This record gives sequence, C-alpha cells and structure tokens, in this order.
Amino acid sequence: MSKFTVAVFSSKPYDNQSLLQCTTDDIEFQFFETRLTEASVLMAQGVDAVCVFVNDILNREVLTQLKNMGINKIVLRCAGFNNVDLSAAKELEMSVARVPAYSPEAVAEHTIALLLTLNRKLHKAYNRIKDNNFSLTGLMGFNLSGKTVGIIGTGKIGVATTQILRGFKANVIAYDPNQSEEFKALGGEYVSIDVLYNQSDIISLHCPLSPTTHHLINDQALEKMKQNVMLINTSRGALIDTQSVIKHLKNKKIGYLALDVYEQESELFFEDHSFDILQDDTFQRLLTFPNVLITGHQGFFTAEALEQIASITISNINDLKANRPCINSL
Ligand code: NAI
Repeated sequence: MSKFTVAVFSSKPYDNQSLLQCTTDDIEFQFFETRLTEASVLMAQGVDAVCVFVNDILNREVLTQLKNMGINKIVLRCAGFNNVDLSAAKELEMSVARVPAYSPEAVAEHTIALLLTLNRKLHKAYNRIKDNNFSLTGLMGFNLSGKTVGIIGTGKIGVATTQILRGFKANVIAYDPNQSEEFKALGGEYVSIDVLYNQSDIISLHCPLSPTTHHLINDQALEKMKQNVMLINTSRGALIDTQSVIKHLKNKKIGYLALDVYEQESELFFEDHSFDILQDDTFQRLLTFPNVLITGHQGFFTAEALEQIASITISNINDLKANRPCINSL
C-alpha cells in the first residue's frame, strides 16, 4: 500500500518528534524547516497534503500552485488561520483543517507569566541579583488583587485567562460580540469596548486577527485607556498598530507592554538571529524600553500542547485522506 505523504513546512525538531510519536504507518512525513511561501511552494511537489504553521503563507498564489501540483489538502498545526486565504481555498475546492483548541491553558498561563513578570519586574530583578545588586529601587510592583483586567475576546483562551485572574481576586471585564456563559459564571462582566478601555488597569488581547480586528489597538483606542495601562498581546501581532504603541510608550500612557506576537514576526521569530544585523528598526525600538517584555510566540509551547497539536493534526490528516467529514475543517 502506498503511503500518504505530507510535506511539513516550518518544522522544528520538536514538531518532527511529536508528529512521529503520534503517527500511523500509512502516513509519511517530509519535513522542511523553511516556511511555505511563493518561493518554497515547489518543494511540496509530489506529496498528498501540506502541513503548516502560523507564519506559513497560504495566499491565492500559493494555493493555486499547490492545486496545480495536485495537492488539495491542507492541515494547520495551529488554531489561528489568518494566514490562509480561505475564500481562494474554497474556490479551488481545497480542504483546510486546523487544530481549534489544543491547550488554551498553555497560552493563558503564558499571559499571566508575562503580566506578573512585567508587574514585579522579574526580568530586571533576575539580572540585578546575578550582578550582586540587591537594591529594590525601581522594582516596585502592584497587587493584582482588586485591579480591573479587560479581556478582549472571551473564547477558549480568554476564559482560561479569566479563570486564573479570578484566583488572584482581580475584577475581570470583557468585550466580545459573542458572549460566553462560562465567562459570566466566573464572575466576569461584559462591557462595551470603550468602557473596557476606560476602566481597565490591564488589557489582554484574546480575539482572532481579522479585517475588523486589524490594528484594533491604535491611537484612538489608546487615547481612551487609563494612564499607565498594562497591555498584553498573546494573540496575533497585527491586532496592535506598533507605531501607535511606541508613541504611547514614549508619552507614558502605556506603563507596561508585553508581547508574545509581533506584526512582522515572520521575519524574526522561531529562528536564531543572534549573529545577524536585524533590519527591523521598529522591533529594535521596542526592545529599548525597560517596561516592554517580548517573547517569541511561545504561548502555545508546552509539552501537553505539542502532544495535542500532533494527535489532532494526525486525526485531521486521516479524515482528509479518507475524504470523510472532518470536524476541524474550516
Ligand atoms: P476562540 O475562537 O475560542 O475565541 C476567540 C474569541 O474572540 C471569540 O469568542 C470571538 O467571538 C471573539 N472575537 C471575535 N472578534 C472579536 C472582536 N472584534 N472583539 C472582541 N472579541 C472578538 O479562540 P482562542 O482559542 O481563544 O484563541 C484566540 C486567539 O489566540 C487565536 O485567534 C490566536 O490568534 C491566538 N493564539 C495564540 C497562541 C500563541 O502561542 N501565542 C496560540 C493559540 C492561539
């Protein structure tokens, strides 16, 4: 029996290991470290399906080229699908499946790690102690208990984040066009987006990137926020207009900024650039602020999440391979 071959793009050793641990004998993976783009799409020649991640580009041109090579099955190893032109995929009669939820707790816990690190300035304290500097000057934080946290997007990750925040006795308010009973049951309160901007001490983004949420956090939104607000983005980089955020860091409206995602991250994240001269001046400017903390899209990166991603991806591959309905189809 011939094997069903899958080209895995943007693959790292940890992806290969988790996919190989969960796979069945009838699937053969070809692992490519490179991203799927117009320049690399020909590498998929001869396979039955492609498996991609957050920064692979599946625009109309790439999809058309895949289709021309006889490939009409795409599996995403992630929840977000803003990098796929779904209307083109539909027109081309291609099947696209994703991993809608693998571990909302992984991203929620990373969000809280960023919040607490920024608040208690652990990134500064760690280096000070290594330098035998035991001064506390500049390290003062605030109690999270009693503070108001605004959650934008109360889906799986927004609710998981709320659950942890309630344990800290924070007040949680949220904006989401679709209200969640689970969020309300945790004691959360829905408000308008303007009230959220106006009342929150901390704002955390958990909505998907779409044409309506692109640059949601811009000058107008920032002007409505509290002085010294903490802003956390573990969702998608382009939810934030980075130039506006830099302006409001400089004028001190934003007191703290934590990012796990960045609009131009595809040029930087997931690779070792420690010997490179980085050309992204905006990113370099962000790094100069003492009150900005950036991680390289690692919110999802736990052992439990990788195992879930691999097993759901294999199950999606098996559904598409058998041409049967897949509950994770887009
Ligand atoms: P979800 O689909 O469960 O929830 C998204 C929520 O956002 C929904 O309740 C939806 O109604 C709401 N929403 C849509 N438009 C909105 C708007 N304009 N304003 C406010 N809310 C809006 O998604 P989930 O699993 O909670 O993931 C959220 C996002 O987190 C994903 O779209 C993805 O971009 C990001 N993510 C980041 C990861 C990381 O490693 N940093 C890993 C996984 C997801």
